[in-house]
Amino acid sequence: MSPISQSLNPSTPQVSHAPIPVAILGATGTVGQRFISLLDGHPWFRVVALTGSARRDGQRYGEAVHWLLSEPLPAWAAEMPLVPTAPENLNGAALAFSALPSDVAREIEPQLASCGVWVCSNASAFRREPDVPILLPEINADHIAVLRQQQANRGWKGGIVTNSNCTSSGLSVALKALDDAFGLRQVFAVSMQAISGAGYPGVAALDIAGNVIPYIGGEEAKVEWEPRKILGAVTPEGIRLADFRISAHTNRVPVVDGHTVVVSVALKRPPADTEEAIRALEAYQPPEIARDLPSTPRPVIVVRRDPDRPQPRLDASTGGGMTTVVGRVRPDPIWDLKFVVVSHNTVRGAAGGAVYNAEVLVISGLVAAPA
Ligand SMILES: NC(=O)c1ccc[n+]([C@@H]2O[C@H](COP(=O)([O-])OP(=O)(O)OC[C@H]3O[C@@H](n4cnc5c(N)ncnc54)[C@H](OP(=O)(O)O)[C@@H]3O)[C@@H](O)[C@H]2O)c1
Repeated sequence: MSPISQSLNPSTPQVSHAPIPVAILGATGTVGQRFISLLDGHPWFRVVALTGSARRDGQRYGEAVHWLLSEPLPAWAAEMPLVPTAPENLNGAALAFSALPSDVAREIEPQLASCGVWVCSNASAFRREPDVPILLPEINADHIAVLRQQQANRGWKGGIVTNSNCTSSGLSVALKALDDAFGLRQVFAVSMQAISGAGYPGVAALDIAGNVIPYIGGEEAKVEWEPRKILGAVTPEGIRLADFRISAHTNRVPVVDGHTVVVSVALKRPPADTEEAIRALEAYQPPEIARDLPSTPRPVIVVRRDPDRPQPRLDASTGGGMTTVVGRVRPDPIWDLKFVVVSHNTVRGAAGGAVYNAEVLVISGLVAAPA
């Protein structure tokens, strides 16, 4: 059973119906493996299909996968066949967790949505569409309202919900707490991103060992834009971006899991002192609908007061990898406040975030359980 399943809150609403059948698309990759682990023992979902690329067709998952996680590969997954990613192969799944490369997702995810499947996607293919939410339920569960627009615009019976790029997720959580309390004007962010964020096999060992690579293709544009959509507002025309600006530098560093982002912010109403900012971060609560779900981060934000934390190796797995860890909160001599954020890139920033999104779709009645 995964760390998230182990950390389920006793107050988590219980489903009284049969488990909801789900598929994992791109199940052999870095994020796909996290899905297997997080869905092992999930109280609401049962995995009924695993997909891979054409070269995997017919292989058992246990034969095809190069398993990278420290928890063992669950026996039920090892025995499942890998099937090509197509609506007719999903074995009745109501939900599909997509860990597909973006170009593949662009083709396949709309086909599934049009057939009535709800796709919770990690891919960037549809994040920029105004009627597709970048959902982080602890921030913007209300953005599911655009899904009705999405269905009307596109004639889909299902839909597509994305989660953010893995660097934007922890950053956005910290920014949301500060925006609610003080109002954001400007954000300057420098990331130090784990190699698991590049998938498998990802970055060559000879490039990254003992090194820092100050370039990740397409990443800066995502980090400068996605938090503004995540903190934006639902309008009849889709989601309107929040009005603060972000400047981002993104770097790959030799860390296995956990992205670190150092951040400076200019605020509309600066806090009286650092303690007021820490209190705002620690007090942050998810919206009601997302507060007691199996994957709700508990707590949403942990603030470390030790001078040398957070560190990815020590802190990324806080709260089963769903909690955002903030530290080194202090005054900024140019703007108002600076701090460090650590977030687990393949859990909160990918598979765990998508499972949390699916839980919101269920609790809001968009995904129907089997009769
Ligand atoms: N890693 C992260 O931290 C992270 C965070 C947020 C978002 N994402 C996004 O999540 C997605 C997956 O990332 P990843 O890191 O898991 O990548 P990855 O390790 O490269 O895995 C990609 C997966 O997609 C499969 N695949 C490739 N072509 C396919 C096709 N035509 N049909 C079905 N499956 C196909 C691969 O299967 P085979 O084994 O058959 O090749 C593999 O299982 C990407 O869009 C990425 O940008 C990743």
